[in-house]
Amino acid sequence: MGNPLFAKKPLSLLLEEMKGENRLRRILGPVTLSSLGVGAIIGTGIFVLTGVGAHDKAGPALTLSFMVAGLACVFAALCYAEFASMVPVAGSAYTYAYATLGELFAWIIGWDLILEYAVGSATVAHGWSHYFQDFIGIFGIHLPPALTIAPFDYDPKLGYFAATGSYFDLPAIVITAIITFILVRGIKESATFNATMVGIKLVIVFFVIGVGVFYINPDNWRPFAPFGYGGISFFGTTLFGMRSPDGTTLGMLAGAATIFFAYIGFDSVSTHAEEARNPRRDVPIGILSSLVICTVLYIAVSAVLTGMVPYDKIDINAPVSNAFAQVGLPWAQFLISLGAIAGITSVLLVMMLSQPRVLLAMARDGLVPQSFFGAIHERFRTPWKSTMLTGLFVAFMAALLPLRVLAELVNIGTLLAFVIVCAAVLIMRYLHPEAERPFRAPFVPLVPILGILSCLLLMFSLPWENWTRLFVWLALGFIIYFAYGRYHSVLARQRTEAASTGTTEKGA
Ligand code: ALA
Repeated sequence: MGNPLFAKKPLSLLLEEMKGENRLRRILGPVTLSSLGVGAIIGTGIFVLTGVGAHDKAGPALTLSFMVAGLACVFAALCYAEFASMVPVAGSAYTYAYATLGELFAWIIGWDLILEYAVGSATVAHGWSHYFQDFIGIFGIHLPPALTIAPFDYDPKLGYFAATGSYFDLPAIVITAIITFILVRGIKESATFNATMVGIKLVIVFFVIGVGVFYINPDNWRPFAPFGYGGISFFGTTLFGMRSPDGTTLGMLAGAATIFFAYIGFDSVSTHAEEARNPRRDVPIGILSSLVICTVLYIAVSAVLTGMVPYDKIDINAPVSNAFAQVGLPWAQFLISLGAIAGITSVLLVMMLSQPRVLLAMARDGLVPQSFFGAIHERFRTPWKSTMLTGLFVAFMAALLPLRVLAELVNIGTLLAFVIVCAAVLIMRYLHPEAERPFRAPFVPLVPILGILSCLLLMFSLPWENWTRLFVWLALGFIIYFAYGRYHSVLARQRTEAASTGTTEKGA
């Protein structure tokens, strides 16, 4: 019967399950799906992390960093699109791994996706809080310091955590509670709210590009790559690139690993496959079009930003709005902060929408408790219990943990998920060459192999502490799987029943 840890969920079973009861409502078309994608992508990354990327890691070569990270994401997106068209169910990468690599890998990726979606949401709620506080600060309103940020932060130069003097981040808790409420009410309302937020942030991004372009001074692009084009390290040892006095690896590739966060989100379109009207066609369209739109915008924004201000004068906390203040347009700060708040809100919405849907898929397979994570609200048809639990988890993490630690954990976790999806596409082509693939990734095996290599390259361009955190997270996941999941797995039960029926029949 084979090792149950590597038991694969048959493709036919996945497709059969899609027809069952307890499904989500199919109301999303290609435009809404693309809008959800853009909603999930443009946020903290472009509005906040471009500052660290340009100032500390890559200089004006940040534009190239955006191209490199964008290319890695395009390879991964093509693989996601192929899978989403084949198996348009809610579980995204988790389900793809279950069908190709077996239950243990599926669990690993499902657990890993919590890093992307739930821990990612906490990171984004943090970014929201910073911009919100900046924004109300324009009107002279300031929160008591005890309610502004996480109680401690990690100082990479000192190498330890230090108290910040605050108790918790109140705005992060409030925004998480509001989004949770909206999500429990239903996907249609969520999609409408999202479309409004996406509209606002796109207008602001076009404003940044369209107005900023008139303030570019080409001298600011020289030198283009002050920290070089490298930036690869292996567990703390710089392999290729410059090293800063505090031991961090610098360069264009290190910049790409940092701003990779800006691209996270296109894959979340695949978690809405079950709510799509025509998932086989529209989900690939949603994934690829949202990624391509954002890549083009990011390259333009980073070129404008590094052209407006010398890289070493770019602000780390609010780089985009601050650049406009530096060129003599302080009023633009108001507009851009508003756009950032809208942008970050929609990222939070989509990420918090995606997490319960992955948990739902895992619950249907018995790997997490079905009665809780699989519960669909009678009236709203939403996975309301797990949405509320996700909200609590996100609020807790965002209120108490530092942004830096959260963001790095999200990057490495998401890159791992991309590597597994690219590998799964290769394996699926080999195992099931006959399966219907309404969308086929081009140039297989080249595209998945390039996806795997480029994501690994970015993983190795992140500081080594992230690997330690990733391993700790995965170890925690293994404990849960071996204590609960493997004993409650629906697939394992079916296999045991099938085996015993086989025995009885033989014996009869
Ligand atoms: N890509 C998302 C952002 O930048 C996660 O906020």
